[in-house]
Amino acid sequence: MIRRRTAVLISGRGSNMLSLLEAAARDDFPARIVAVLSNRPDAPGLARAATQGIPAEAIDHRGFADRDGFERALDARLRALDIDLVCLAGFMRLLTARFVEAWRDRMLNIHPSLLPAFPGLDTHARALAAGVRFAGCTVHVVRAEMDSGPIVAQACVPVLPGDDAAALGARVLAAEHLLYPQALALFASGAARVTDETIAYGADVRFPAQPLLAPATA
Ligand code: GRF
Repeated sequence: MIRRRTAVLISGRGSNMLSLLEAAARDDFPARIVAVLSNRPDAPGLARAATQGIPAEAIDHRGFADRDGFERALDARLRALDIDLVCLAGFMRLLTARFVEAWRDRMLNIHPSLLPAFPGLDTHARALAAGVRFAGCTVHVVRAEMDSGPIVAQACVPVLPGDDAAALGARVLAAEHLLYPQALALFASGAARVTDETIAYGADVRFPAQPLLAPATA
């Protein structure tokens, strides 16, 4: 089995990165995480990656005159590491169309909503304000428009009476930690492929790969 060389890009705490590292620690996982990169030197996730024995480094975006300069450095580092797949996991820099196209169909992102609903920030507060009864998360192939691209997998969770953004966000985050490794495995193995700007699944994929997560009942 080919284990595709994968980098995880973070900006902060890195809990999704850790769930990917944990899954990819198995020899039979179709991706191998070979590096964790952050645009912020103070990202707590960098130290967490290092404790797992994964090379973790910062490319501080503030050290570059413009977005293009930062992205050229990031691209060069990814290529020097012979990276095949990139996973954005709480990476908070917008990427230009040029960078996104350079990594077309080789870059995934996780977003804490059921896209295409609620792209952007403050998803949980916006979901609550909209009165939706289900929330969730999406792993998608990255396209130039923010939080868009072919959807690899989604998981949903209920919105429960009394939820605030923090409570809903915690429930969604638990789903993210289950979903991202599954989605990466599907994509890295070739079981999920981009076809006509949606995802086609191999015949042997049992679907839904990630069913509705059970509500937390008292
Ligand atoms: C997650 O909710 C992710 O979906 C969003 O940013 C958050 C990152 O959390 N893009 P963490 O750094 O993975 O803990």
